Amino acid sequence: MIWLENVYKSYGKRVILQDLHLHLEAGEFAFLQGRSGSGKSTLLKLLYREQTDFAGRIEIDAVPIGQIPKFELRRKMGVIFQSFELLPRKTVMENVALAGEVVGKPWAEIEPEANRLLERVGLSDVKDCFPDQLSGGEQQRVAIVRALLNRPRLLLADEPTGNLDNETAFEVLQLLKELHVEENMAMLIVTHSERLIEQFPAKTWIMEQGRVRVV
Ligand SMILES: Nc1ncnc2c1ncn2[C@@H]1O[C@H](COP(=O)(O)OP(=O)(O)OP(=O)(O)O)[C@@H](O)[C@H]1O
Ligand SMILES: [Mg+2]
Repeated sequence: MIWLENVYKSYGKRVILQDLHLHLEAGEFAFLQGRSGSGKSTLLKLLYREQTDFAGRIEIDAVPIGQIPKFELRRKMGVIFQSFELLPRKTVMENVALAGEVVGKPWAEIEPEANRLLERVGLSDVKDCFPDQLSGGEQQRVAIVRALLNRPRLLLADEPTGNLDNETAFEVLQLLKELHVEENMAMLIVTHSERLIEQFPAKTWIMEQGRVRVV
């Protein structure tokens, strides 16, 4: 699914990733850990192509990432951010629908899938609310639904529970794990939380000195 070989990434003269190798199989679940500034977000940005400048090989489904049109990449992968990144003037439903609109899906396809997923995460009752009317955990569930709307085969999450209390973080991770099983979706989850990794044993990579190693 994801294949990085010998990847180097610098910002100016600062080398962030060096000789990095990482393989994530289809349907696999893994955590990515590492100190602040070690390059975790940078690695994810390369994968969803917010950063395009790197050396080495990055392939998604055996295709070099630079050859994959952006809209196709958006269909293949969902992304969740620590700060949710919901649009404040749009309702829950509108925020979710946007993910379908940017890849050109008709409303008739978007609506039933959005309703199904909102129901699945227990948010049917708030679909006409605005983000600031929701709790942090609810907002994060909206962001999860938005990331899943196009039924991606890969979910990237950059500290999806960083802004949540322990109990809510546990619930969000539990939800992600269930979706991982139900939808057979590969997931790469960046987290600082030792507690979550203990609660949800899974393959864990540590990012150190520009590389990752499995613990
Ligand atoms: N656009 C950028 N331009 C220049 N330097 C950057 C840029 N983005 C990140 N960096 C630097 O690259 C390093 C790695 O950043 P990155 O955001 O990948 O770390 P991280 O592991 O995600 O950290 P955190 O756990 O704090 O989120 C940091 O030292 C950061 O200052
Ligand atoms: Mg980061």
